[in-house]
Amino acid sequence: MASPWIERLCSVALQVGDLGRAQDFYTHVWGLEVARRDERSLYLRGTGGDPYLLAFQVGDSSQASPAIRHVTLRAHSVDALGSVARACIAAGGSIHRPIHDIDDPGGGEGLILRDPWGRLFQIVHGDAQLAEPDAISLDRPQRLAHVVLNARELDASQRFLEQVLGFRLADRTAAMAFMNCNADHHTLALGATDNDALNHIAFLMPDIDSVMRGGARMRDAGFPIEWGPGRHGPGANVFNYFIGPFGEVIEYTSEIEQIDDTYRARSPTDWAWPPGRTDRWGLSPAPSARIKQAQREVFFTPTGPSP
Ligand SMILES: [Fe+2]
Repeated sequence: MASPWIERLCSVALQVGDLGRAQDFYTHVWGLEVARRDERSLYLRGTGGDPYLLAFQVGDSSQASPAIRHVTLRAHSVDALGSVARACIAAGGSIHRPIHDIDDPGGGEGLILRDPWGRLFQIVHGDAQLAEPDAISLDRPQRLAHVVLNARELDASQRFLEQVLGFRLADRTAAMAFMNCNADHHTLALGATDNDALNHIAFLMPDIDSVMRGGARMRDAGFPIEWGPGRHGPGANVFNYFIGPFGEVIEYTSEIEQIDDTYRARSPTDWAWPPGRTDRWGLSPAPSARIKQAQREVFFTPTGPSP
């Protein structure tokens, strides 16, 4: 089920009002490290080879919520960048920024495309991977696991990911379309709802214990578990969900199911939970009202005409 063009998820870029607050929380509590910091931007890395997992840029300090600038995916090749660009135009999207050299801790070259609903995807190739990643550190994120984006027009949004990025449907529930591009069960997912907000960003932890210890660390820092602990149906990954300091929803996860071409996508009727259950364990209450509201409040930055 591998995408012919996209290798994997790399990072998410957010616009916030306070870089210091972002650095304090995401390094001291969430477990990332500073990859690069200057007056206007902050890049934070995990323990894996990716040059960074989150990029923050200063926005309007008066804004109540952050905005999402783009989701970055790595292409298999330089040629794939051109293929994706052509497929984007053919599918009704636009090129927000043509192929260019990227000035961030990873470098390389890439482009930013915009889907018909305003979602922005940066596709990169040739970005520098850290030659010798840190030794696995308990309780710290290794890489991003997945990003979930809400979709008013889910079926059409799913077709765009299939046609432009070569993703395939891994599973469909009543609430979500889980989209696959490599061995991870899902890398992107689309949430069926009435808006196109960021639903959440998931960080891969080394194991289930680090997801649980991370839950306690977050609780102690004043960020209670808003959903979890639990084990999802599609993907079978373990989870704890939180609301970050800017209202963004973030997840610690581990043990994401690894799949191949033999995996059979299942339908909403295959994934129906018994009354009162929202995951495989049945330990956790349903997602809090707070997290459901937070999943409706972070939107992609509006863009003008393509440069
Ligand atoms: Fe998730």
